[in-house]
Amino acid sequence: MNQGKQIVDILEKEKKLSLEMLRELLETEDADTREYLRERAEAVRLSVYGNAVYIRGLIEFTNYCKNDCHYCGIRRSNRHVERYRLCKEEILDCCKAGYELGFRTYVLQGGEDMYYTPERLCDIIRSIKSKYPDCAITMSVGEQPAEFYRQMYTAGADRYLLRHETADEVHYGKLHPKKMSFSNRMKCLQSLKEIGYQVGCGFMVGSPYQTVETLYQDLEFIRSFMPHMVGIGPFIPHKETPYADREAGTLEMTLCLLSIIRLMHPHVLLPATTALGTIHPLGREKGILAGANVVMPNLSPVEVREKYLLYDNKICTGDEAAECRHCMEQRMEKIGYKVVVDRGDYK
Ligand code: 5AD
Ligand code: FES
Repeated sequence: MNQGKQIVDILEKEKKLSLEMLRELLETEDADTREYLRERAEAVRLSVYGNAVYIRGLIEFTNYCKNDCHYCGIRRSNRHVERYRLCKEEILDCCKAGYELGFRTYVLQGGEDMYYTPERLCDIIRSIKSKYPDCAITMSVGEQPAEFYRQMYTAGADRYLLRHETADEVHYGKLHPKKMSFSNRMKCLQSLKEIGYQVGCGFMVGSPYQTVETLYQDLEFIRSFMPHMVGIGPFIPHKETPYADREAGTLEMTLCLLSIIRLMHPHVLLPATTALGTIHPLGREKGILAGANVVMPNLSPVEVREKYLLYDNKICTGDEAAECRHCMEQRMEKIGYKVVVDRGDYK
């Protein structure tokens, strides 16, 4: 057996990798090794979750953001973005359409927008929860005070997504403005877990200044933090950001990392992201076949889709929720997987 395959076997058995083993898997050109990694990750995913694909209805409810992350298209200093906010009724309309399409998780994602005070946001969460008690609510509104996180949890939020972006403090500093700190990001993730949320962290693949060493730290962080969800997708440059001229992350590297994460953490909820679908027409299918088990079709009103562009060429911005839902079902069926009507909790 070749060296690459041996590394995959060790990874599956011990659920961890050394830096040198990670380098070998990421840099190998050997097609057999890559395919073996994918096969093992898919086998592990099938043993835990079968061929079910969980769907999450993404509602991008505000593109105002007080932050200025260097990679992000809706950063505050991008003056070309037409800003919008959805009101409670508009959000509830998205939920209604989503419910009828079989979604049982809503992801409320937005920039760090001070307009949504704890009072306003908790009122929205309570309204969704009282209308759809059988649905999970996932919040994704960035870094907030622990007290705010607690209030949202009490109002009915079940899960929280906050990508750590990179587990290397120096690298973190290169992706973010001085005002933001790595230690606060870590503190937020800890409090979310303590409060009782199912928590998701994650990072972009191929972000500027990322190295095998920083990726190794990401994997070590994930191993110690034991999140319920891990969101990873390729970095894709946005033309109105400081990183406009950087190269995008690659399909191969993203698939490789999805498989590694699946083998390290067999039960994790792992999305095949929209960014992955953006860099390759079959990116999401390939993500599922590499060990992912979640997709997140967009439920945002079509009128605002073009305004929530974190990166260039984002897919599905012209498609109604129902179109994406059916498109996804067909895409998954073609590869032998089944979209299920289910909250899709961590097993
Ligand atoms: N390319 C890919 N992903 C991005 N994100 C933000 N900007 C980009 C980009 N240019 C990701 C970040 C963030 C999540 C909501 O979207 O990781 O946490
Ligand atoms: Fe949106 Fe295919 S998933 S159109």
